[in-house]
Amino acid sequence: MGFRVTLNLFLFVLFSSFCLNARAESSGSVVFLEGSSGKYLRNQPLDSDGERTPISVPEVTGVASVLLGFAPDSSLAIESSSKLNNILTPNPFERPLAVFLLEVSRLDDVDYSKLQVQTVIKDKLVGSKALMHLPGEEVLVTKIEESLDGECNSACLDKEFTYLSNFLEGSYSGSVATEDGKLALPLASGGALYLHVAKEAELHFASSLAALVRGINIGVEFHGDLAGTSFNPAELITGRFTGFKALIEEHGNSEILQQGVEIFQTTISKLFEILNRSYEGKIVGVLIYNKESGMVEVASSARISRWLEETSTSTDNSTTASEVKLVRRSLAWITGLILLISTLIGVCMLMNMPLTRDTLLYSNVKFD
Ligand SMILES: *[C@@H]1O[C@H](CO)[C@@H](O)[C@H](O)[C@H]1NC(C)=O
Ligand SMILES: *[C@@H]1O[C@H](CO)[C@@H](O)[C@H](O)[C@H]1NC(C)=O
Repeated sequence: MGFRVTLNLFLFVLFSSFCLNARAESSGSVVFLEGSSGKYLRNQPLDSDGERTPISVPEVTGVASVLLGFAPDSSLAIESSSKLNNILTPNPFERPLAVFLLEVSRLDDVDYSKLQVQTVIKDKLVGSKALMHLPGEEVLVTKIEESLDGECNSACLDKEFTYLSNFLEGSYSGSVATEDGKLALPLASGGALYLHVAKEAELHFASSLAALVRGINIGVEFHGDLAGTSFNPAELITGRFTGFKALIEEHGNSEILQQGVEIFQTTISKLFEILNRSYEGKIVGVLIYNKESGMVEVASSARISRWLEETSTSTDNSTTASEVKLVRRSLAWITGLILLISTLIGVCMLMNMPLTRDTLLYSNVKFD
């Protein structure tokens, strides 16, 4: 009996040390961005030792939920609530109701000196995956695709790469179809990052960057569409950046990866500037860096996508309205013509009807 208890205890200790190891391995970092300092996020660490304690992934999604104006998940522990308190400003009426949440896989830490434009708060990230539940009707979720590979043919890729290079003040020459396409993206530190579409890893990185820029543009567009309506949902722009995966697998920790990181930082910085401008400062950016992928899943209901479809179809209502008008008008004309012709035929037949006994016009009784 005593032996069994000891064995169980031993197994338990072994198991928990494995868990601790797993926790330690999956560490990364999280970065919060906001347009004006101290509006939505505390910029002073509140922890007694003056150092910021690590944050877990469920706590990060909890922060995002509160910023969107919802209560954090009820499964969040008490200590976590105080952690949220340390990050968020106390005023519950000061929430941006818009969040840009991006998960960056395969990188656990980056140099943030490139992101000087905004207030940046950085915390160490620990723990495992988290699911973020959102009440469907009240949140508009814009999903950023991981890459353009699936939906974009070579002509479309050329177009997106030209847009991306203009956005980053670089250039794009050649084309995807002829496999000589080349992006030259200038680096803040001097020199440029060259991405060749003929090389799969570089193509995937460029495609992920282009998808990120496109996703943000779509989110900004939706926000603009909402501005004219009375519908005011919370807005979440979210996705996963997987561009580094292929670069790391192909080149390891090489110069091209460092340059890629620098370009990514510049892109984020520029995109957040656009977001800050179009949301008039009422948005917070949350970047989750982790070696692993799939740390955050966002669960939003189907009602939002249906609502989105309605908005996107109503955006070109001029054509549909004229089509409906045309169909209705022709139906009315056709029905009118048929009625007129049948009336004329009926009258003609009445006029030429022979007045015999068995005519239906006179009843048999009268003749009898
Ligand atoms: C973000 O937008 C707010 C409001 O428009 C503005 O006051 C602030 O300076 C902007 N921040 C940056 C970094 O551009
Ligand atoms: C939809 O049609 C109405 C009436 O024709 C027009 O006033 C409105 O601007 C249109 N909306 C859009 C988004 O085109």
